[in-house]
Amino acid sequence: MTNILIIDDEPGIRKTLASILEDEKYKVFTAEDALLGLEILSREDISLIFLDVLLPKMGGMEALEQIRKDWPEIEVVVISGHANVDMAVRAVKLGAFDFMEKPLSLDKVLTICRNALAIRHLREENRRLKKKSLSRDEIIGISPEIEQIRRVIKQAASSDARILISGENGTGKELVARAIHRLSGRANRAFVEVNCAAIPDSLIESELFGHEKGAFTDAVSTRKGRFELAGGGSIFLDEIGDMSAVAQAKVLRVIQEQKFERIGGEKTLDIDVRILAATNKNLEAECAAGRFRQDLFFRLNVIPIRLPPLRERAGDIPVLLSHFLSEAGEEQYDFDEAALEALKSYNWPGNVRELRNLAERLRVMYQGCRIGEELVTDLLQKIPRAFGTQGAEEKTLPSPGTESRFPPALFNMHFNEARELFEKSYLEFQLSQNNGIISRTAEAIGIYPSNLHAKLRKYGIRTER
Ligand SMILES: Nc1ncnc2c1ncn2[C@@H]1O[C@H](COP(=O)(O)OP(=O)(O)OP(=O)(O)O)[C@@H](O)[C@H]1O
Ligand SMILES: [Mg+2]
Repeated sequence: MTNILIIDDEPGIRKTLASILEDEKYKVFTAEDALLGLEILSREDISLIFLDVLLPKMGGMEALEQIRKDWPEIEVVVISGHANVDMAVRAVKLGAFDFMEKPLSLDKVLTICRNALAIRHLREENRRLKKKSLSRDEIIGISPEIEQIRRVIKQAASSDARILISGENGTGKELVARAIHRLSGRANRAFVEVNCAAIPDSLIESELFGHEKGAFTDAVSTRKGRFELAGGGSIFLDEIGDMSAVAQAKVLRVIQEQKFERIGGEKTLDIDVRILAATNKNLEAECAAGRFRQDLFFRLNVIPIRLPPLRERAGDIPVLLSHFLSEAGEEQYDFDEAALEALKSYNWPGNVRELRNLAERLRVMYQGCRIGEELVTDLLQKIPRAFGTQGAEEKTLPSPGTESRFPPALFNMHFNEARELFEKSYLEFQLSQNNGIISRTAEAIGIYPSNLHAKLRKYGIRTER
């Protein structure tokens, strides 16, 4: 319920205003002077205040200043008599949301009230999102391995040294790459990501270095490549271990010469980018097997950062879990010892990403529940394994049988929340049945691929393809 406070010395105004607002199901508090009003503010959770400017004891303007200082998130609407409209205008300049002139019009009261509450809601949402996006970039962990990685990042960020980040899927390679960029002198310039595994051989050169109009059949216009787009900033060559021999040779040449040309171009362009690369493969072994160029490996691997799999730093699991659980709010979860032990001894083939998925499920379905070993074990078996877990030995796909037992919590949710949860699980399952191939999945479930793409983006489902 939304609480509204009216501070006005005229009983008639308090009464009319209160009855209008109570009819709209707001909970109304009233005060005949500002001091009483401030006292109510200190004990009730008020969202909006109607404040008269001419008040005995403490004036409305003085009260407004105090409210702005102590409760900056509360919206204030100033009420003024005809004679003191100027003062009301000043109050708006001081941070009041709006002002109303006496006699009060019913429509105006309700419109202003709704607008003020909507603005307040947006502000809160904004604050929450900002906090969330900041906390999304944070590298969480208390294990000595993570502490050490944080130290290396700090030291290495300011130089332009090339960094090779390695680790299994979902261990946080991209998170580390972004942290390096953010802490570097290039933070205000672009961070350009290239998924080397996703770009076909025939296109990689043009993707990386761009092309001039007419350079080849499909080159209908001049296009900048990713190295050029990253100018002044950082380029993140993700999944570098999957780059073809041809592309490896080209990247090596560019690193050696620090220059490149667009395909079909005459002009030589200087390179001003910090190169960060990542791989889930063991590149030394790839070199030994002749699949990766050793000279390129040495060039990229100036500073190596190896992210250990989550099962080797089980001490990080509780802090990561509470970080992911609190991302959406401050709800409480009560884990018993055995549940935590089960989490710590699980082998986490999908690493931190898998833990994040688990936290998301707990958050949506089991908010406020006591979380025991049985529930945790059950959930661990149900996490779709098709994504981000290529290194996994076992691939347990969820069967329609287990997924179709709707969790009771679904029935306590708002319609949209329940539908989204269902859609997300459904799509994850269908994708896993179709090897993560979007066009095939779309056909199988009878929706347009573009529609499926949009939904996957909405739910943050990654397909690794
Ligand atoms: N130490 C950490 N603290 C907080 N969040 C983390 C940490 N490590 C990973 N994550 C989160 O886990 C998810 C996977 O991380 P990220 O995408 O960086 O992994 P990756 O190694 O690049 O995976 P992939 O090999 O699949 O590309 C992201 O949501 C990321 O924010
Ligand atoms: Mg990645």
